[in-house]
Amino acid sequence: MQIIDGKVTAAEIKAEIAAEVQNIVAQGRKRPHLVAILVGHDGGSETYVRNKVQACEQCGFLSTLIRYEADVTEAELLRCIEKLNHDVTVDGFIVQLPLPPHIDEQKIIMAIDYRKDVDGFHPINVGRMAIGLPCFVSATPLGIMTLLRRYQIKTSGKKCVVLGRSNIVGKPMAQLMAQKAYGDATVTICHSHTQDIAAECRQADVIIAAIGQPGFVTGDMVKEGAVVIDVGTTRVADATRKSGFRLSGDVCFDAVAPKCSYITPVPGGVGPMTICSLMKNTLAASKNEYYK
Ligand code: GUN
Repeated sequence: MQIIDGKVTAAEIKAEIAAEVQNIVAQGRKRPHLVAILVGHDGGSETYVRNKVQACEQCGFLSTLIRYEADVTEAELLRCIEKLNHDVTVDGFIVQLPLPPHIDEQKIIMAIDYRKDVDGFHPINVGRMAIGLPCFVSATPLGIMTLLRRYQIKTSGKKCVVLGRSNIVGKPMAQLMAQKAYGDATVTICHSHTQDIAAECRQADVIIAAIGQPGFVTGDMVKEGAVVIDVGTTRVADATRKSGFRLSGDVCFDAVAPKCSYITPVPGGVGPMTICSLMKNTLAASKNEYYK
């Protein structure tokens, strides 16, 4: 069994990006600039955004954090997005999700100029990804594909089970795993109404768990030699920690790991790769790689 080290892989990629940015700046071109919009004070979102800003520094990017209180109106948020759409100093921006319930998340995503949508959430990017055209790809699925590639894990012709059908992870993940240029696998998507998830998982050569239920994937659900990718990062109470919580994945690591050929830990697996994929997308945006 080999542990897939997302932290080390992400650090390598960020160093590669930083070297490229140094070259860009040496040629007199401008530094990539990412803007993050954070609404409210959700603990998880605060941490994610802080890590994104820190990753920008590591890559030599400019970053700007725009904060709003949780009672910001949808109209105000839309005005901010419109301003960023037209700001030539901004290469890409993200609106950290989830948003408070009075704000229509889809409306916010649709308002983002798809050429600056480095999260890859806009329907134009989602659609282009689905038909294999160049575009910004959602950062978590992209990070997972990068991990599989860097660890030279063969997925072509293999059976892949994706647990979860979210717009951010499950759906794009299944798309990429099925595409010839990426996973080239036979893909099954499982969700809350799947009849026998354990039976589906036992058939899988690759399991990608993204349902946000701590410890959902147990040892008996995994076949010998499977590759297991754990996207879950749920905060669970832990009195032994200073913070009062720890992050728990969707996989019972101790029971599942001995059966795997490869497995990602939580933390230190998929999480750091999500952030480094966002950096890659921002670099691509600054170079107009996908859109002129
Ligand atoms: N919330 C959870 N994951 C993400 C992400 O990748 N991007 C944004 N904007 N919000 C998120």
